[in-house]
Amino acid sequence: MAADESLLAAATPRLRILMLVHGFNSLSQRLHVELAARGHVLSVEYDIHDAITLEAVELFRPDVVLAPYLKRAIPEAVWRHVPCLIVHPGIPGDRGPAALDRAILERRSHWGVTVLQAVAEFDAGPIWAHRSFPMREAPKASLYRREVTTAAVEAVLEALSRLAAGWQPEAQHEGLPGRTHRPVSLAERTIDWTSDRTADVLRKIHSADGYPGVRGELAGVTCRLYDAHAEHGLRGAPGALLARRGEALCRATVDGAVWIGHVRREDEHALKLPATLALAAELAGLSDLPELPEDDDGRVVYREADGVGWIDFPFHNGAMGTPHCRRLAETVRMARSRGVRVLVLTGGPEFWSNGIHLNLIEAADSPADASMHNIEAMNDLVAELLECRGLWLIAALRGNAGAGGCFLALAADEVLAHDGVVLNPHYRNMGNLYGSEYWTYLLPKRVGEDGVAHVLDRRLPLGAHEAAAIGLIDGCIGPAAGFMEAVDAHARAVAADPDFPRLIAAKLDGYAADEREKPLAVYRAEELERMRLNFYGFDPSYHVARHAFVHRRPQSWTPLHLAIHRRRTPPQPT
Ligand code: COA
Repeated sequence: MAADESLLAAATPRLRILMLVHGFNSLSQRLHVELAARGHVLSVEYDIHDAITLEAVELFRPDVVLAPYLKRAIPEAVWRHVPCLIVHPGIPGDRGPAALDRAILERRSHWGVTVLQAVAEFDAGPIWAHRSFPMREAPKASLYRREVTTAAVEAVLEALSRLAAGWQPEAQHEGLPGRTHRPVSLAERTIDWTSDRTADVLRKIHSADGYPGVRGELAGVTCRLYDAHAEHGLRGAPGALLARRGEALCRATVDGAVWIGHVRREDEHALKLPATLALAAELAGLSDLPELPEDDDGRVVYREADGVGWIDFPFHNGAMGTPHCRRLAETVRMARSRGVRVLVLTGGPEFWSNGIHLNLIEAADSPADASMHNIEAMNDLVAELLECRGLWLIAALRGNAGAGGCFLALAADEVLAHDGVVLNPHYRNMGNLYGSEYWTYLLPKRVGEDGVAHVLDRRLPLGAHEAAAIGLIDGCIGPAAGFMEAVDAHARAVAADPDFPRLIAAKLDGYAADEREKPLAVYRAEELERMRLNFYGFDPSYHVARHAFVHRRPQSWTPLHLAIHRRRTPPQPT
């Protein structure tokens, strides 16, 4: 179905929308941002228990319940009385769990998102809107955060316009392209290293990337496998381990080889970790396994053209442990020494950065010490960026940024994002973490003292448009498609600008004035004093929150910054 432009163009009246979610994940956050920007009144409830959902509906009295990420059915007592829109990551007519996993396994050339009304039978309700997109050969989580999210935002906006206009949704019928599919079985994804080709191995791992991971064996250990990509040179006996490099292990297939970056051992309480760390004990016995240089692993890539240096750092999930921070800082130092006029930090395609690496910290013998080392390494990286005095530093956010990752970006002279980027510029969701990364210097400088509380205390995701409007970032430049080209044109223009020396002189003056007012090292020291309390003090909230986060513990209640209907004095519509 083509987009009904007239419906999209017409302003949708303000609706009270209750978002019912299994977790406030990236898609839910993006929808929250988009709907809030359109003036809708939003509240969020985690899907914990039917009685809690009913209570939320009773308290909030929504015009519509929106379920972008749900794992259970909505109670009948709700959908009978309030229209409930389910975002299904499948084409019209597709029914069943793990729709995107199956689309990847079946090598679909196109896939889609459908907004359905909840009825008694799963995925069987009338269709309010849908969108399709061409599939990419990529991990499921990457497709979800990019194609699925873009399609879902469009389809939800259209569905809400239609709902507000009194449109009647289309009942599902025989002629729809989708069908009912069965759940993906373990056997369907099991890799046979003696017969599967590289493309088969990648498809199986991609189909389960993020969650649940393909179950397989590596270095003799049963694990869930994630974060795979093809190797283009090494060959060996099918199934043989060929090499290690940085975080990843290379294993031969019948027609090539694949790198596996992350694994979760099947042992109880095991975490998703870099493969070489999770299997360190087993690998110690394989002393003849060749170790390739880490600087070729695609995790930190430097390139240069026309006076502009570019650093990509697509760290898995945007998580930056001590070694990641050090590597990036070294690359920044190297770039500075090359005399480029402009340096662009591009992060990764899904995440720019999500701050310190909580999984590595959790896995350490002393999580408190590991937290301290990680935040020091992160601060050293920020300091390195702040020392880039003779060049113009641009943070180009092609992916989302959260917590310390957001503040890392603010160390650049210019922060640019496309309009699909979601920022979470706050730390408190992680057990009231105080935060560092020089935020006490960087944030007020951008949003003013009054803006600090607005940014930090709301604890809500911010869209790039709003972030630019409040001065947190410098520009939101159009959609994701074309963003990097726009950044490229801008960076080249800055590098070629005859006024460049004046730009740098003004920047140096600014830093000199800031240092005179308060040395930047003092901000860092003050923040770290507070962080030390978070890590070593009597209040274990950070450690508890981190443990729950890395083990993906289900939510047990909805925090009040999301569930406005549960506040004693809910904010009044303005
Ligand atoms: N360290 C380790 N892993 C992290 C991470 C971090 N700092 N931030 C995100 N991840 C991982 C998640 O565990 C998840 O892993 P999965 O592949 O097993 O699913 C994946 O990245 C995606 O995270 P998710 O929470 O599903 O993404 P989102 O887009 O829905 O939410 C955030 C984004 C930033 C709000 C959320 O990931 C978050 O709160 N991260 C922690 C940020 C933080 O507190 N950092 C420490 C202080 S600096």
